[in-house]
Amino acid sequence: MKKIPYLTSSLALGVVLTIIFLFSKPSYGLIEIDITPPLIPNPRLLRAYIALQAWKHAMTSDPNGFTSSWYGPKVCNYTGVFCAPAPDDPHITTVAGIDLNHANIAGCLPEELGLLTGLSLFHINSNRFSGKVPESFRKLNLLYELDIRNNQFSGEFPYVVLYLPSLKFLDIRFNQFSGTVPSQLFELKLDALFFNDNKFQSSLPKNFGNSPVSVIVMANSGLTGCFPSSSLVQMAGTLREIIFMNNGFTGCLKPELGALKGVTVFDISSNKLVGPLPDTIGKMKSLEQLNLANNKLSGYIPESICSLPKLKNFTYSNNFFTSEPSKCLKLPAKDDRKNCIPYRPLQRSPMECKSFYAHPVDCSISGCSPRSSPPPPSPPPPPPPMHPWP
Ligand SMILES: *[C@@H]1O[C@H](CO)[C@@H](O)[C@H](O)[C@H]1NC(C)=O
Ligand SMILES: *[C@@H]1O[C@H](CO)[C@@H](O)[C@H](O)[C@H]1NC(C)=O
Repeated sequence: MKKIPYLTSSLALGVVLTIIFLFSKPSYGLIEIDITPPLIPNPRLLRAYIALQAWKHAMTSDPNGFTSSWYGPKVCNYTGVFCAPAPDDPHITTVAGIDLNHANIAGCLPEELGLLTGLSLFHINSNRFSGKVPESFRKLNLLYELDIRNNQFSGEFPYVVLYLPSLKFLDIRFNQFSGTVPSQLFELKLDALFFNDNKFQSSLPKNFGNSPVSVIVMANSGLTGCFPSSSLVQMAGTLREIIFMNNGFTGCLKPELGALKGVTVFDISSNKLVGPLPDTIGKMKSLEQLNLANNKLSGYIPESICSLPKLKNFTYSNNFFTSEPSKCLKLPAKDDRKNCIPYRPLQRSPMECKSFYAHPVDCSISGCSPRSSPPPPSPPPPPPPMHPWP
């Protein structure tokens, strides 16, 4: 008879449920769960079952029926749930990945998701999840990729990500996060960081250059302050793509930027940058895409830039440049409109150019906005409160 194994698993189940009960919020109704113990092969999958059922209950809309397979004990067979042998014990199967990208699901993330301690990938981009990232995510110490892009998360920066020791890829773009960007973010050993299109209001912290990322996308992020040339140079060893478009960065571009020899995409369009374009940009040997549009840059376009061997697209429209080498016109894609370049179509009016050049920019003056007296650079935001884990 199966008496003994059943008793043992019931006992194990009792212990697990007690732990879970202590772990979960008191309001969480355990009665709702339909558990058939012999079908759940190990305690980790049982915890996963509890987490996923709690999550399903926290969903208020699933128009495409993405989670319609989320019933019964076989969590590894749920749509968007991926199992793998546990790294610490290959004989145990655990939930290693969640991929609900583009499911258009509404709801929130319950604390129970912290039970998925085997997770290395959590991808829920392009849904309508709201609220905050649960504190219990701190338990996910194998989490490698966190992609919550294009949802409706709000409130302060999701500080819990700062405590994930394995995190390499963080994408929180297109949400409603607000407040300051914590300086600790730039101490994480991330490979890629995307946080554009939120409602952050801050200057970059001073330690920004400590980040070892290869891709940094901070477009449309409400960032202000001096353009962080020196920090970027500090990151030269790893940086490949820099996308800073549409922020409020001010000041001149420093010649030291030429040290960014591995950077392929450099987009600093739609900021408040002034002054000349350093010749040394022509030393950024890997550059393929360079976008400087919609700033107040002036002077000439250095020939060294248009001679870069891999440059495919150079956009410098809507500035105040006065000349460009003919080499630039031969690039596969370029845009020089709305400058002050003689004999080129679609330039600014001579009047506009004349009045701009009546007030020359002096980049040697310290501060970021040499043409008006700048406020001192704002101090980095204070460290966030450490939320003690209950
Ligand atoms: C897993 O789901 C598929 C359909 O998505 C089904 O055909 C298969 O029988 C299921 N396997 C188990 C073990 O339930
Ligand atoms: C060149 O870059 C600009 C700015 O990023 C973009 O709008 C344009 O489509 C690109 N052109 C080509 C041909 O790739």
